[in-house]
This record gives sequence, C-alpha cells and structure tokens, in this order.
Amino acid sequence: MLRQLCIATKNEGKAAEFMEMLKNLPIELHSLAEFPGIVEPEETGKTLSANARLKAQYYAKLTNMPCLADDSGLECAALNGAPGVLTARYSGENATDKSNIEKLLSDMKFCIRRNCCFRCVIAVSLPEGKILNEVEGICDGLLLHEEVGTAGFGYDPIFWSKELHMSFGEATQEQKNAVSHRARALKRLIQIWKKHR
Ligand code: IMP
Repeated sequence: MLRQLCIATKNEGKAAEFMEMLKNLPIELHSLAEFPGIVEPEETGKTLSANARLKAQYYAKLTNMPCLADDSGLECAALNGAPGVLTARYSGENATDKSNIEKLLSDMKFCIRRNCCFRCVIAVSLPEGKILNEVEGICDGLLLHEEVGTAGFGYDPIFWSKELHMSFGEATQEQKNAVSHRARALKRLIQIWKKHR
C-alpha cells in the first residue's frame, strides 16, 4: 500500500469526503491546499477515465507525490449517455449548477425514458506518471421532471435515487455516501489496496 497520498481535487467538499473515507488507512494524507500555486489542468479527455488519469498524472508530477484524482458525470439513457464527460460544462463554458439543470430538464422534457446514472472514475498516479489504480463507481436513478430538495450540489435535486427512493436533493450526506458513485469507486479502491497489501 502507498505510504503517502495527495487527494488531488480543488473541490473542498469532495476532498473532505475522500479524507473521511481514507482516514483509517495507514496512509499519510495530503491535500492540494498544501500546494496553492498549482492551477487546475484543462480537462481535455474524451472520457471520464481519460480525465481522471490526466488529472492524477498532472498533480502527481507537480506535487512529486502519489495523487488520487476523480472525474464524474451524469449519463441519461434517452440521450445516449449525455451529458457524460461534458456534465460540468453541459450548458456552456460559464455553466452553473442552475443553468446545467435547466438545460438538461429542457433536453429531457419530452422523454418518457428517465433512466440515468452517476458514474465516477478514480485514478491514482505516481509522480513519474505510472497509473497505479483505476476504479469506477455507479449509482442508478431516474431523472426527475423538476427539482426536489435543496441538499447536495450539482444535479442532486433532479436525480431520484433508485436505492434511497428519494432525490439526492432530499438525502442527508450520510444517506448519499451510502450509495453514491464516488463512495462506491473509493470503496472499490480501498478493497484493492487491502487485498494487495
Ligand atoms: P466533477 O467530478 O467534479 O468533474 O463533476 C462533473 C459534473 O458532475 C459537475 O457538474 C458536478 O456538479 C456533477 N456531479 C458530480 N458528482 C455529482 C453528485 O454527486 N451530485 C450531483 N452532481 C454531481
């Protein structure tokens, strides 16, 4: 198992979530807060996997430390998997959560098939660029016709979880962590590390 790991995300909510789940492992955890001069790379990959790898390699090189990075997206069956890798920028370069939700609800307005899923890919890279691990987590749901609840972030208010039987906008952080794509990918990574210890 690694002795040191930097959680390479500028999203403080995500960093806290990752730190919490990894805190009982014998790994010295670091965050990008310790490296304020590092700017975010452009996410030019065509897949979630490519972007997770690109970010892990970029930050590992600049921090000179093994780095964990993730990329996630929402995939709607009726839109052939869109927004997918474009989830964050679905409504354009200056997209906000609100404008993204508005565009997706509009694009899905006449769709009866509401199946969708959140997908998360996590990659771990060494400073020289070698990818040590890549794992994926999925969370199935239905796309709602309007926002329900105000909790969470991003597309949470329009995602109805098939497992929780409620919108992510209504779920507590603890409920969401029990089924979320990110938590699932991270659990898979921890399993792999423990097996190959
Ligand atoms: P990223 O993983 O931070 O790159 O997220 C990509 C896009 O997916 C952003 O628009 C996020 O708001 C959205 N997203 C990722 N995870 C979640 C989630 O758990 N709930 C709601 N939206 C999410």
